[in-house]
Amino acid sequence: MNHALCSLVTGASSGIGRATAIQLSSTRRLLLHGRDRTRLEETRRLCANPEHHLLWAADLSAVDAIEASLTDYLASHGVRIEEYVHCAGMWNIGPLRLLERATASEVMNVNFMSAVEISRLLTRRKINDKALRNIVFVSSTASQFGARGTSIYCASKGALDAYMRALAVELAPNVRVNSVLPGAIRTPMTESMLADPVLLERMESHYPLGLGREDDITQAVAFLLSECARWITGQQLVVDGGRTINISG
Ligand SMILES: NC(=O)c1ccc[n+]([C@@H]2O[C@H](COP(=O)([O-])OP(=O)(O)OC[C@H]3O[C@@H](n4cnc5c(N)ncnc54)[C@H](OP(=O)(O)O)[C@@H]3O)[C@@H](O)[C@H]2O)c1
Repeated sequence: MNHALCSLVTGASSGIGRATAIQLSSTRRLLLHGRDRTRLEETRRLCANPEHHLLWAADLSAVDAIEASLTDYLASHGVRIEEYVHCAGMWNIGPLRLLERATASEVMNVNFMSAVEISRLLTRRKINDKALRNIVFVSSTASQFGARGTSIYCASKGALDAYMRALAVELAPNVRVNSVLPGAIRTPMTESMLADPVLLERMESHYPLGLGREDDITQAVAFLLSECARWITGQQLVVDGGRTINISG
């Protein structure tokens, strides 16, 4: 059987994932992932060549269910994945003393363990032949730095980047693996935080180039997937308008 080669974008139903899908859609066939079919359909409509792209709905917090869901999907649709971009993610903010164990597991599952599970499956010949060539994880500057009330989010992104580096070594030379580390971008995830004018002004004052846009991140993802990055693997590409190198006041 001749399989169709696709690029899988998780979290394609919103924010950075949706913008990434739109950016990649003119040059690739995409497998768009999210939980909500209606929002995924909306992304598909916004893409170039909508009729070429496929939809896969799955809750990534249920890591045990990913294997059956993804392998059945790939087999029944005759699809193999050559590029995998993990944008799905959830934010959690609050002091450690109020963090519930179930919430900690959910954050780790969506941001990190699901990426482990999906990449594990995509490297199996039985499931994906030897189609996989490229992985980009959308991490965060929270992988490298801390802020009050963000312990489990930071831990999930730190784990993702440590995994990325080890995978880059293990899967070379056939598969390149990198991360993009965004600073603050206005998306549904950050909407409520950025709606607070005091917080917004304080944040903006820390960003030498101001806050970012979704396309600042999608351009970085597209670069890492491209042949221009053919000799780059195992790297964290920080895209944050200079936030993390700013030590002034
Ligand atoms: N925005 C920022 O400032 C910023 C900064 C640094 C890093 N990031 C990272 O960028 C990525 C995208 O964030 P965003 O700002 O675009 O957020 P967003 O608009 O809230 O999008 C999050 C995406 O993740 C999916 N998702 C969440 N929980 C899921 C679950 N249990 N199972 C399956 N999918 C799930 C959502 O799907 P549904 O539509 O089904 O909910 C949605 O597509 C995240 O990994 C985030 O950590 C964002």
